[in-house]
Amino acid sequence: MLASRQLVGDVSAVRCYSPSPLFRRKIVSKNRANCSIANCAYSTSLPRNAIQVSGVREWLKLGDGFGPASAFGSVAQPGARRGPVSHITRAGILSIDKVVSAEKPIPLMLVTDLDFTMVDHEDKENVDQIRFNSLWAADYAHSSLLVFSTGRSPEKYQQLRSEKPLLTPDIGIFSVGTEILYGPSLEPDVGWENHLNDGWNRDLVLRECHNFPALKSQEESEQRLHKVSFYIEKDLASEVVGDLTKRLEDLGLKVKLIYSGGYALDILPRRAGKGEALAYLLQQLKEMKLTPKGTLVCGDSGNDAELYTVEGVKGVIVGNAMEELLRWYDGLQVKTHIFMAAQRCAGGIIEAIEHFGFGPYEIPADRILELSHKTPTPKRSVPTRGSATREVVEVNTALVLWVNGDCPNTDAAHNRILKVMAEDATMVYPWGEERVLRKSVVSYKDKYGLKKHARLQVWMDCVKEQKLADNIFLVTWQYWQQLTNGENRKGYFATAILRTKVGNPNGLEWLRVHETPRASS
Ligand code: GLC
Ligand code: MG
Repeated sequence: MLASRQLVGDVSAVRCYSPSPLFRRKIVSKNRANCSIANCAYSTSLPRNAIQVSGVREWLKLGDGFGPASAFGSVAQPGARRGPVSHITRAGILSIDKVVSAEKPIPLMLVTDLDFTMVDHEDKENVDQIRFNSLWAADYAHSSLLVFSTGRSPEKYQQLRSEKPLLTPDIGIFSVGTEILYGPSLEPDVGWENHLNDGWNRDLVLRECHNFPALKSQEESEQRLHKVSFYIEKDLASEVVGDLTKRLEDLGLKVKLIYSGGYALDILPRRAGKGEALAYLLQQLKEMKLTPKGTLVCGDSGNDAELYTVEGVKGVIVGNAMEELLRWYDGLQVKTHIFMAAQRCAGGIIEAIEHFGFGPYEIPADRILELSHKTPTPKRSVPTRGSATREVVEVNTALVLWVNGDCPNTDAAHNRILKVMAEDATMVYPWGEERVLRKSVVSYKDKYGLKKHARLQVWMDCVKEQKLADNIFLVTWQYWQQLTNGENRKGYFATAILRTKVGNPNGLEWLRVHETPRASS
């Protein structure tokens, strides 16, 4: 029985792993640098270690000796929106520690565009982005996945990180779905990039584009292996896109032209794009039995449209969306899975989390403010997964509200910080001094409103929680602070140990904190 499949990989280097029936169907490419796509037939009745590649007309003798660890196959159903399951991807996804430790399903995978979706370039104080960051740190970071999907190259993304309070995503999809990078160290998924070579010839694309004087080349950093980008005036765009698409297709190229933001034209391989890249990631997670309970995609412009077409996702179009995305939405027949937010950017994302009921949506600062008017009634709450991170975020938020003078100057507000510190708890400060926490917090009483005129802004990144024993929790995070105008940014690594204490806000008390400045901010 022959089944037609698509095979991804350099034919000369394809290996088939055979000893275990479980892995018999898995095919892996050894030579990553030189991968191409071929249609291949694969058969269960073939001799061991053999596959047939159409056009080659002979069975290829394939190497042996691949163990299961390297036998992650690259067989994709024809027509399905998925790419190869490369060992790179698997290692990449598994490098995300919350995935490795997922005893329970991943509650939410939030996939968001950056410019004018997560990041509001018109808000110098980044109010909603900071609010989103605190919600994410308090209630999602420990178990949910944050994915940034941007048109920017990794270089231009790094530049944005230095300007705006961006969290560190678990996965980054860059250059309009042509580059997938994992974890804080941005490990590239080479398997994905190889998958994009099908019908793609960059030089030919460039040569054709030279015939269109209306196309103005974008900067060098935005020209990528699988992305050629131009600026073009709005009223010329649709004609040029039509003509250019035809010329490229006549040359036998399989391309996709995407117009975004009313100014940018990207030419990509047909297999690329934000939607394709997300479908690929979801497929990898599914194969690892790690499908998130919910996926929310967020966008504002043309290159985000594809995100809403990925099977099973919910989507939000933020309140400030661009004309081209709104027009695309108007033409849709099925749109109940898409929410039109009233608010701009990150404000719209928070609205959507509430609208779809993905989980908590109350911002820690709002919760703290509510409580600062009254003494909370002790609850007999027992800490659960996430309680320790929430406690850490709430106390840090309460401190900022206090020094900025944004909460009422009440005992209830001050006690939210004081009463959760164990009697003998200590903190090592970034400048290398150890103090008893209760004493420090008492001295904070006088610092109410100290930063009223040069207001502090704080966000917590890479928040992780670990249960060390039945009643002991370790929380680690990166702490960032700056003035609301973005100046004086400083970063710290922080660690806290907390212990169960019935009656405290999150059922926890603080035992120890340690902060160390980052070498560079
Ligand atoms: C980002 C990229 C740019 C791209 C645009 C639209 O601005 O830097 O190259 O054209 O997104 O996708
Ligand atoms: Mg955008």
